[in-house]
Amino acid sequence: MIPFRYHNPTQLYFGRGMLETLRKLAPAYGAKVLLVYGGGSIKKNGLYDQVMQELSAAGAAVSELAGVEPNPRLSTVHRGVEICKKERIDFILAVGGGSVIDCVKAIAVGAKVDFDVWDVITRKAAASEALPFGTVLTLAATGSEMNSGSVITNWETKEKVGWGSPHTFPKFSILDPSFTFTVPRDQTVYGMVDIMSHVFEQYVSHTTNAPVQEGFAETILRTVIETAPKLLADLASYEHRETILYSGTMALNGTLSMGVQGDWATHNIEHAVSAVYDIPHGGGLAILFPHWMEHVLDENVGRFKRMAVNVFGVEPSGRSDRQTALEGIRALRAFWTSIGAPNRLADYGIGEEQLEVMADKAMANGPFGQFKKLQREDVLAIYRKSL
Ligand code: NZQ
Ligand code: ZN
Repeated sequence: MIPFRYHNPTQLYFGRGMLETLRKLAPAYGAKVLLVYGGGSIKKNGLYDQVMQELSAAGAAVSELAGVEPNPRLSTVHRGVEICKKERIDFILAVGGGSVIDCVKAIAVGAKVDFDVWDVITRKAAASEALPFGTVLTLAATGSEMNSGSVITNWETKEKVGWGSPHTFPKFSILDPSFTFTVPRDQTVYGMVDIMSHVFEQYVSHTTNAPVQEGFAETILRTVIETAPKLLADLASYEHRETILYSGTMALNGTLSMGVQGDWATHNIEHAVSAVYDIPHGGGLAILFPHWMEHVLDENVGRFKRMAVNVFGVEPSGRSDRQTALEGIRALRAFWTSIGAPNRLADYGIGEEQLEVMADKAMANGPFGQFKKLQREDVLAIYRKSL
């Protein structure tokens, strides 16, 4: 393992009926609440009414910011910051998926500075505080409900930037699997791809002697693989929604990265694609991850062999380690295709036109990735294989 410090201050309330804790939790942070949500799914499925009831029982004065986009935009963050400053908001409540939560993280920091929060997101300035915020999660995918990360898109400059700060952990997150019943089939698939990708980003590592972390990672991967087809056959299954919701939180709340050097190159490569084409994050990952794996395989064949055997049940006897490893990567692609994830950039109508632009964006901060440092030509090679 590598030396590490672990601290995760988010209180997690998980399970059926947990929304009722909102009326007890919210008052601790002040009466003026900004409720932030997306394009309307919470109005259609009734969650909005339930949340308003809780906030009213908490005695809150509620302002609203609706319409946070998937791949949330800086312009929406600015709108939220303006409301917070004008209305002297005490506390922000995010009700939605990763996009709503990420947007709220940026609003929470932006509300406390007298300059553009984009400077914090792009690391030109540091955040020293944030408005407190909580979340009610409606989609299993990003882990944003229990981490300090956020991804914001500046649509004018076509930059999608991941950032975070010790001040951007939610104070609490409420996760009721039944709130995810209405997530459409495609978003459910993207979410499961994202969850598995977060595990891969931490599992594909040169770190040695991390058997517990590796075992956790493999368990999450096998669990998602086993559960995905059952959930897709019954999208309103509490049991399967519960399994996937918990998997998503555990995949990216810091547990798997304790003492382990994660990679995160594929996320960077994907963010450059969704910055230019505004495609779903999980869809982009499904296309790119197997190609990244093949590209970096020879850095540590044993790691991919272990994945093939322990996660995908590839039989190693009669095969070289490299063949076993490649078989595992093929099994991953076949699995994602079997649940309906895209496997070519062409599935989103993306051709060669913007490959150089995307590579420039991915390289904005120089070579990246810990498992193998990727140069511009590596990024281009992965994009070309993904066409
Ligand atoms: O906007 P509404 O109407 O709510 O609809 C959303 C949206 O269209 C819908 N949805 C969410 N919950 C629903 C629902 N529809 C019906 N019923 C429900 N219960 O799903 C669509 C996608 O939502 P979104 O929040 O965009 O999805 P996700 O949670 O996958 O978040 C994606 C964003 O998170 C970033 C991604 O890059 C992307 O911008 N990421 C954030 C991370 C983090 N903060 O740690 C890590 C990730 O790797 C990722 O990069
Ligand atoms: Zn992700």
